[in-house]
Amino acid sequence: MLDHLVARTPKATGKAAGKATPILPLSEKTLAAWLKSQSATLLAWIKAAGFKAKPGTFVLLPDDAGRATRILAGVEDGLDRWSLAGLPAALPVGLYQLEEEDLSPAQASAHAFAWAMGCYRFARYRSDAKEFATMVWPKGADRAAVERTARAIGLGRDLINTPAEDMGPEHLQKAVEKVGAAYKAKVTSIVGDALLKQNYPTIHAVGRGAATTGVRAPRLIDLSWKGTGGEKGPLLTLVGKGVCFDTGGLDIKPRGGMMMMKKDMGGAATVLALAQMIMDADLPLRLRLMIPAVENSISGNAIRPLDVVKTRKGITVEINDTDAEGRLILCDALAEADAQKPDLIIDMATLTGAARVALGPDLPVLFANDDDLADSLLRYGRSEGDPFWRLPLWKPYRKMLDSKVADIANCEPGAFGGAITAALYLAEFIAPTTKWLHVDTYGWTAGKGAGRPDGGEPLGIRGLYAFVADWVKQATKSAVLPKRAAPRTKPLTRAASKRPLSRPRARR
Ligand code: BES
Ligand code: MN
Ligand code: ZN
Repeated sequence: MLDHLVARTPKATGKAAGKATPILPLSEKTLAAWLKSQSATLLAWIKAAGFKAKPGTFVLLPDDAGRATRILAGVEDGLDRWSLAGLPAALPVGLYQLEEEDLSPAQASAHAFAWAMGCYRFARYRSDAKEFATMVWPKGADRAAVERTARAIGLGRDLINTPAEDMGPEHLQKAVEKVGAAYKAKVTSIVGDALLKQNYPTIHAVGRGAATTGVRAPRLIDLSWKGTGGEKGPLLTLVGKGVCFDTGGLDIKPRGGMMMMKKDMGGAATVLALAQMIMDADLPLRLRLMIPAVENSISGNAIRPLDVVKTRKGITVEINDTDAEGRLILCDALAEADAQKPDLIIDMATLTGAARVALGPDLPVLFANDDDLADSLLRYGRSEGDPFWRLPLWKPYRKMLDSKVADIANCEPGAFGGAITAALYLAEFIAPTTKWLHVDTYGWTAGKGAGRPDGGEPLGIRGLYAFVADWVKQATKSAVLPKRAAPRTKPLTRAASKRPLSRPRARR
């Protein structure tokens, strides 16, 4: 992806030494003004080509000798993140450079991001090479931020797109170890029957059908890291559903439902990629990343419908459906995450089909036990063009999870409110005082256009990163500011005595 963005200094790279063909971004609005100062020949050419500056379109302009001298590229009027993404594959291979007089730094970054995304291809199993055009980094672009984001998205996509044969629990562990090693994080894993000894019964129960030893054995992968100056920073714990393949278990999925289930580790891939961004940016916080990694398989050793498992937290769960496995592996990981009393837990999971019925493929569902944090994430999702939509943790539906024999059932027999009941199940494993965001995502895009090919997609990662960066800032600020007593004109109400919820407590 990033090989096709080069520095402008010819010394830095041989590629940039050649002459770059300029690309002029124009919107439907700015095109009209620009056309006024052009020659009749050029106007005729642009008209013949039918170029109207529609976002994503482009036209090559010739000189008198018929050589392409300039590219006009259609873009959106506001901040444009995707319109240039089609160019690297569509333009003749060569070197290009944005005409950047009018580019804001934000727009320069966004165009560079689009270019990088346009050069993504899941090539692991392809024997044909694909060539892309190269662009000089536009002036003003935040190169580190664009690289960080593009790398993380590429990592997330690659992990999700890799089929289960090459992306089993151990492969996922290796992927976490590789990212961890790059940033000197500590990574440990509890594998196979050790999960029972160390009291992670649900992760074991779901994963044992695949194997209890070897590469397919279930495991809990656990990464810890501290940013520079993060020793006293807030603790963020990320948890991701790592079901490397979901057959449904004995409650087997029909063919169509199983078709895409290599992506059932999409939550794990997204939080790992997000962790990479956080570590790469050296955010001043403490980070813990937990990935329960399993395959939900069928065998004589597989968990059965109506079995009861005593979870890590001690809550007993009746397995009404072996296909509701994500919440099972998550509940033991969340219980352990919660026991450490972090300042914030964010979990991501390809948890329910119901979330997709409700919001379609593109909008990850957000559940939260804190309105200020939820609002902040929704806001950053919108401003980054990477949106979430919130659904309620609607307590009255908790009774749908009542079990005849155990403390709770892993799912409801009916078909209503499935994303909400899944979230309510997880909520049982989080203390009410722990701030918690739960994201039910698709982990996939059905081809939304250039730069977003059909395939694995760590949806929400840009919104989440922006949210986390701000969350850390707020936390650091409230740690530095001296504490002032609240004015005591009247007795403090409960609401008034609460500190702002978006400001995590500073550690002493
Ligand atoms: N991984 C699936 C959820 C899923 C399906 C996500 C399709 C995205 C697209 C999950 O493990 C599952 O099978 N959930 C069941 C729960 C049900 C048995 C209560 C579902 O949503 O049907
Ligand atoms: Mn399932
Ligand atoms: Zn699943």
